[in-house]
Amino acid sequence: MDHFIYNNGVLHAEDVSVKEIAAKVGTPFYLYSTATLQRHYTVFDEALDGLEHKIFYAMKANDNMAVLRVLAGMGAGMDVVSGGEYAKARAAGVAGDMIVFSGVGKTEAEMWQVLNGGIRQFNVESEPELRLLSKVASAQGKVAPITLRVNPDVDAKTHAKIATGRSENKFGIPMAKAREAYAEAASLPGLEVVGIDVHIGSQLTDLAPYRLAFSKVAELAEALRADGHDIRRLDLGGGLGIPYQRSNEAPPLPVEYGQVIRETVGHLGCEIEIEPGRLIAGNAGLLVSSVIYLKQGEGRNFLIIDAAMNDLIRPAMYEAHHDIIAVEEPEIGVEPAPVDIVGPICESGDTFSKSRLMPPLKSGDLVAFRSAGAYGAVMASEYNARPLIPEVLVQGDQFAVVRPRPTYEEMISRDTIPHWMES
Ligand code: LLP
Repeated sequence: MDHFIYNNGVLHAEDVSVKEIAAKVGTPFYLYSTATLQRHYTVFDEALDGLEHKIFYAMKANDNMAVLRVLAGMGAGMDVVSGGEYAKARAAGVAGDMIVFSGVGKTEAEMWQVLNGGIRQFNVESEPELRLLSKVASAQGKVAPITLRVNPDVDAKTHAKIATGRSENKFGIPMAKAREAYAEAASLPGLEVVGIDVHIGSQLTDLAPYRLAFSKVAELAEALRADGHDIRRLDLGGGLGIPYQRSNEAPPLPVEYGQVIRETVGHLGCEIEIEPGRLIAGNAGLLVSSVIYLKQGEGRNFLIIDAAMNDLIRPAMYEAHHDIIAVEEPEIGVEPAPVDIVGPICESGDTFSKSRLMPPLKSGDLVAFRSAGAYGAVMASEYNARPLIPEVLVQGDQFAVVRPRPTYEEMISRDTIPHWMES
């Protein structure tokens, strides 16, 4: 559920008209709903009710500082994958012991930064990373709490670019090598084993792969305990999918996912950690854009809008579907017609959708992409020297720009001219 609904024929974000925001901010822009972010956090929290648990929002999905503040205010911890994300999480007021550090290529500098600033745990992904972390922590006179991310070799049945749990993927340590890796971890100075980590992929729309992966983790936990390791936390990653196509998708609910967790690992008495990103932020955001032209081609019509693949790359990168709706509610009885919805960038890949049924639209009309709150703004670029688009947050009847659109001067002045070119 989200808080983007038609009210008097105009799409609203909570109690604010999207048209009104567009008139003030200019298109295109991202628009986030505080109530939806809060609701999604709460739904996860309730899904794990009765289990000792913590939620670490995977901030790679949307790391706007205002969004982080909303979630931190709900009690969320953060799952970070870089020194930059760690710095942003801390700046948003998240304590070090509410941050887990994931990622397959943590650098020595990042290890220093995070150990120095305080961290709940490193989710270590390889033996060389274990050795480097041991060295860095020992040099700092610190002990790094660690889990090892295991690769359960489970098919997450999602898009190949976002599946991570097969042995051919670069992530984690194979299950068969896990006991050996844990033994090495226990033997190294400066490390303390606290649990196991697993993450099998993103946009999962079936619970069976979770059940399989978590069952393998439960078995491993018992084996590791028998080996003498103190397995007290299980980080089960993120990945639960959202309905991108509302008319025909109904992915499992967080409460059903919670039930799988209970059934597979509930008996172990471990603290459960999860790292949802998309399900918290995805349907809490729209991308709002205006129609520039309706161009009649040969046999097809193109709706050319002012948002492009640099603003939302998911359709070009993963063939992803986003529902696109008119901000002015179409009148009953109006016949939709197929159009190709495209951006202004000089690439055919700058196509959001082909033959999409849309109501009649003309230059200046507003459209909104649903489910754009996750992996939208964070993956944007300034390709074609198109300024990063603004982000707006709504709360009730208020809205604020939480990232302004840079001016052309700001864009230009980010580059510097080498001294030999200065006269
Ligand atoms: N934990 C780890 C270790 C991850 O790698 C990810 C996502 C998550 C948690 C959060 O997964 P989520 O709950 O958001 O599915 N750019 C792609 C998605 C990439 C996901 C990468 N890892 C997209 O636009 O679909």
